[in-house]
Amino acid sequence: MSEKLLQKIVDNFHQATILHGELASAMWFIGLQGYAYLHELQYAEEHVALRKVKNYIIKTYGIYLPDNIPASANLAVPLLGDKNRRELSQDETVKILKEAWRVYERWEIDTLKLYSGIAVELFDDKDVAAHNLVSDIVNEVKHELDNIVDIVMELDAHGWDMPQVVADQQSLAEEYKEKLNELRLGDGLV
Ligand SMILES: [Fe+2]
Repeated sequence: MSEKLLQKIVDNFHQATILHGELASAMWFIGLQGYAYLHELQYAEEHVALRKVKNYIIKTYGIYLPDNIPASANLAVPLLGDKNRRELSQDETVKILKEAWRVYERWEIDTLKLYSGIAVELFDDKDVAAHNLVSDIVNEVKHELDNIVDIVMELDAHGWDMPQVVADQQSLAEEYKEKLNELRLGDGLV
């Protein structure tokens, strides 16, 4: 039972990394490197978290369950597919930016709900170790969602003003690039 619940988290992480990859591509496409690095960071961190849960299932329950890996997050192609980044109007750029944040926020809200439900089920099943593993992941998602809400509120506050958005990118890029450079990926796998 626990292994199937944890596999649901692995499968959601697969979708999450694909979504973060497409969101990073969308942000590189519209030239917003701070947001692009944010998604590159999440892509890397969530890939490691995925492997950690997968390895936990194998080591704890002694079995291998197949992964369900989607081909696409269905974001980048509908949003960018027929465009050339050099020919975008400012309205098109803002539209892509708004849609990217809307999809991202919705994804993390749904993910928080999914993982919280699984944490409760694991607790009810008295699998406290698996519950603790998932609780840590729930805290990470909550932290990620709080950051999203802060950024979107700031964007709403200045009316998605592109000169302001562009001015913010340099320091955000430095912040997330540094975090990427600090990742000790090998330490996160088990
Ligand atoms: Fe995420």
